[in-house]
Amino acid sequence: MTQHENGKSADQLQLELEQKDRLIDSLQKDLRDAQRQLLQAEKMASVGQLAAGVAHEINNPVGFVSSNLSTLADYVHAYQEVMTQVLKLASPENTEQDTIKSKLASAIEEHDIEFISEDILALVDESAEGLERVSEIVRGLRLFSRIDSDDRQWSDINQCMRTTLSMVNNKLKYICQQELRLEDIPKVYINVGKITQIFTNLLINAGQAIESTGKQGQIIVKSWHEGDYVHISVTDSGSGIKQEHLDKLFHPFFTTKPEGQGTGLGLSISFGIAEEHGGELKVASKEGVGSTFTLSLPTTGPEDEQEPESDC
Ligand SMILES: Nc1ncnc2c1ncn2[C@@H]1O[C@H](COP(=O)(O)OP(=O)(O)OP(=O)(O)O)[C@@H](O)[C@H]1O
Ligand SMILES: [Mg+2]
Repeated sequence: MTQHENGKSADQLQLELEQKDRLIDSLQKDLRDAQRQLLQAEKMASVGQLAAGVAHEINNPVGFVSSNLSTLADYVHAYQEVMTQVLKLASPENTEQDTIKSKLASAIEEHDIEFISEDILALVDESAEGLERVSEIVRGLRLFSRIDSDDRQWSDINQCMRTTLSMVNNKLKYICQQELRLEDIPKVYINVGKITQIFTNLLINAGQAIESTGKQGQIIVKSWHEGDYVHISVTDSGSGIKQEHLDKLFHPFFTTKPEGQGTGLGLSISFGIAEEHGGELKVASKEGVGSTFTLSLPTTGPEDEQEPESDC
């Protein structure tokens, strides 16, 4: 048997090598598991962040729609009383014209029918708008529930952005104005849940950067089309990013937020999702002025699969 310098036989060395290979395999598996758990944790964190906001956002329209409904019920009651007299007045058996007229006049006055007639359509419109908000939020929740799927669909990212904004509105409305400058752009072939996750990260980061200045700020969202790409950018008037941080921004775990507030995974996951889609995520920022994150996505995709479209 050939003895090597360290006194071990080729068989022994082979055995040790195999053991090490197995160890490496098992470590790699542990690493993959840990990475999967981290991704899941980040996803849960963004869902968790949204949950409170979503509850609040839904609660508000549900509150005023139900209060409007109760006022509308009173109005209907008043109209019914008035209508009863009107019908009597119009009836061929009407023999007490004057009594009915005076009852009609007092019902009209008592219920302030003039005011009701002005108010009633406003209430209906406001309620319809409130319910539209609720269904927009529910649509957003459905997008989130699809993060895990690998499905891609031809989708309108302007609409995805609007839906995402309605989901995070509760986190932004008190600290900044939001301005949308969305151009008419072609649909892109995307995983709607994942692109929604990017938008959520960018909007929440923008909100946090504005909040850290302690001043009211502004978020501008733009979209445009150029060659084979569509672009969508989120610009904030927040703290801006230090020059020396710019190249670390997309690294996993890079965060400047206090412990417990940021995991530092938002942008690295977003970057990965952009790459998965054959696109890119870029940043431009000036400390003390603000930042712009731009997501670019190719307009190419399987031509024969134009339908079905996503519902974002
Ligand atoms: N719009 C922004 N303005 C200023 N700094 C930003 C902005 N977006 C990201 N950053 C900086 O980049 C860092 C990394 O962002 P990322 O979204 O990856 O993680 P995080 O926000 O710290 O934590 P998480 O998103 O996991 O909750 C942030 O901590 C912050 O320093
Ligand atoms: Mg973040």
